Amino acid sequence: MRKPLIFGNWKMNLDVKQSDDLVRSLLSVKLDYGMVDVGVAPDFCSLSTVARTIRDMGVPISVAGQNVSQHEKGAFTGDVNADMLLTAGADSVIIGHSERRTVFGESDELINEKVRLALRCKLHTILCVGELLAEREAGVHVEKVLYQLGMGLKGVSVDRVNNIVIAYEPVWAIGTGKTATPADAEEMHAAIRKFLSKTYGPVIANKIRILYGGSVKPDNIGALMLRENIDGALVGGASLVAEDFIKIINYYK
Ligand code: PGA
Repeated sequence: MRKPLIFGNWKMNLDVKQSDDLVRSLLSVKLDYGMVDVGVAPDFCSLSTVARTIRDMGVPISVAGQNVSQHEKGAFTGDVNADMLLTAGADSVIIGHSERRTVFGESDELINEKVRLALRCKLHTILCVGELLAEREAGVHVEKVLYQLGMGLKGVSVDRVNNIVIAYEPVWAIGTGKTATPADAEEMHAAIRKFLSKTYGPVIANKIRILYGGSVKPDNIGALMLRENIDGALVGGASLVAEDFIKIINYYK
């Protein structure tokens, strides 16, 4: 059985104090970490503060960077490497988010470089994939997502892939209030699992968690989580409001 994972992606919304306040609100509520794994992805400036607050409380909340450099070290002004994330207190990283792909022009090749380096550095890696609205309307959404997945995982060995989480986030559903129906999401998640099974074998494929992302809210998480291949959520907007994020984490109640 795969343990559900609910991850909050705070994007570029909160300053250091606001991030710390938000994580403290989260920590003030008793959550059942035996039932659900929880993680947050603050901005780079807030990451070490948030990680320290979590560590001081002795709670198993995961902390992720929202991006990472494909380079190990050197003259790359403005970039943040895997070691910096780890030493700041992160254990995970989000790679290939659609905003990185569409706004910052990150290619599948670049995302693959980042994935391989992050895994080599022992960061749990959340690899995001997702189609554009036009691709869904043209009926090529599954093909597109499996292509992104194949490119993102190129060269990732069987022993490293267990440190991967896949996040399926249809671009047209991110921040728009439109969610994929549970049936549409399940269709994609099942296709992703089948791809993983062909590439890495069924035992490993059955252990890899596949999250859904795109306007996940307290009132739609329950129906999504009922589906066989939906193992959790990557939550943007609703993770910025402690009360909503807590409701999403407690979806099973
Ligand atoms: P959203 O963002 O929940 O605000 O749609 C999801 C994401 O981008 O990960």
